[in-house]
Amino acid sequence: MKRRNFIMNITAAVGGLIATKAIAKLDNSPMSDMVCDVKSDNCDKGDNMHDHMNMNMNMKMNNNMPQKLLSTTALPHGKNLPELTNLKNTSTQAGVFEATLHLKPVKIALTPEITTEFWAYNGMIPGPKIEVFEGDHVKITVKNDLSQPTTVHWHGLLIPSDQDGNPQDAIPAGGSRVYEFTIPEGTAGTYWYHPHGHNTVAEQVFRGLAGTFIVRSKNDPLASLPEQHWFFSDLKLTENGEIAENSMTDWMNGREGQFVLINGAYQPNIKVEGATRVRIWNACSGRYLNLSIPDCDVFLVATDGGFITEPHQLNKPLLLTPAERAEVVIVPKKTASLYLQNIGYDRGKMGNVPPEPNIILSQLQLTQTASTVLPTHLKQVPILGKAVAKKSLEYTEVMDKSEPRGGMLFLINGKRHDMSRIDLESKLHDVEEWTIVNNSHMDHNFHIHGAQFIVQSRELNGTKTTPEFVALKDTTNLRPHETLVIKIQQNMPGLRMYHCHIVEHETLGMMGQLMVKE
Ligand code: C2O
Ligand code: CU
Ligand code: CU
Repeated sequence: MKRRNFIMNITAAVGGLIATKAIAKLDNSPMSDMVCDVKSDNCDKGDNMHDHMNMNMNMKMNNNMPQKLLSTTALPHGKNLPELTNLKNTSTQAGVFEATLHLKPVKIALTPEITTEFWAYNGMIPGPKIEVFEGDHVKITVKNDLSQPTTVHWHGLLIPSDQDGNPQDAIPAGGSRVYEFTIPEGTAGTYWYHPHGHNTVAEQVFRGLAGTFIVRSKNDPLASLPEQHWFFSDLKLTENGEIAENSMTDWMNGREGQFVLINGAYQPNIKVEGATRVRIWNACSGRYLNLSIPDCDVFLVATDGGFITEPHQLNKPLLLTPAERAEVVIVPKKTASLYLQNIGYDRGKMGNVPPEPNIILSQLQLTQTASTVLPTHLKQVPILGKAVAKKSLEYTEVMDKSEPRGGMLFLINGKRHDMSRIDLESKLHDVEEWTIVNNSHMDHNFHIHGAQFIVQSRELNGTKTTPEFVALKDTTNLRPHETLVIKIQQNMPGLRMYHCHIVEHETLGMMGQLMVKE
């Protein structure tokens, strides 16, 4: 169905995409000029038939007619990077953060012609930014006005398991609940929130549900620097401007849309004036970000769980797999206008997919200023003691024609996620060494709830490497046939999930359950 709407109230310039109400139907001009030409460069991320060919898999093509996608020229680009909108704290008590997140479908005008229905937290894409301090008590009421159950998972935060949005703790359609937790001292960092219901995460994320969560410290060694937030998400629109369903390719490889958004904006214009601290989130469903920030010195200062010991200068693009975060300090080496690019990264996608292209993510306006001296010491990263227990996990992929969502199963230790099965048990406070083997042909990452781990080593093609610096991580990548060794300590009892954070794989069951016992 073609439609063309007239919007009287264009999306506000702040806070990414915000629902607008004044929508009136106007004419019925054809939109064929916006239909994607599958042979053009703009469309090489589309689900063309050839994505599925030569797979030697003889899979059923039902439910998977290739969808025509909107041309990437149909959305405007080059507006200034929107700032994320803060979730309002309604508490008047010091040290208490109290607020409401309301999930519901909203119509957002992307252009005067294109209005798209998203599922959003408080009507915003991305969801509102939550900012608290270490030690704060957080109390968030969540109202679910979707037509399906959901949970809110506070990705990376060290909080009790019954407040962490496990799939077992669903908020029914039309229901609500309160999440309540205290932010532990020493955990300042860059986190986020997203749904974690059973079987629904992929759809709820690709329809727009995700938001940022920043924990600040009262003694922040970089507090004097200007700070920016780059929240990357991915949007796949059909030629009618509707959010596309997942194709078979999306289920297999992890969904990638034709639009990469930063703070809800497509190819925004970002100004970097002198040394700037940037918090970066990869909130894409399946896309690997491999960010090239040209003509700048780029220093990594924090990973998923907060600061590393000292700034670490990057000499290659910053790879962030889905759900990973980083904080960098960007120091322009000249005054210039350049592109922020995603450098093609081959993650071993299945099917005959074209090579990964480099993608322009944004226009960067750099201004060189007098040099800034970064502190040499940021934080003492906790060192975990000797491991007293060991665990091992193996990722595998197997074909299963009875699985309609892509015909593949993604397994951990040969099993699919089962909400009623405990796969592993840990003793509270035990330091453990986990060995995770990716016995498959594509990259998958590993994420676990309830703790930040420290990578000990990796082994790929017989070559063993150890990290150059100690970093707190809750998500890290595994190349095909790579072996990863981590050290981890769970300091709160209860049930915790671990999974690949390509959300299609997670939703298909590439997830296990750990019970932490006192
Ligand atoms: Cu970001 Cu189990 O999730
Ligand atoms: Cu998580
Ligand atoms: Cu995966």
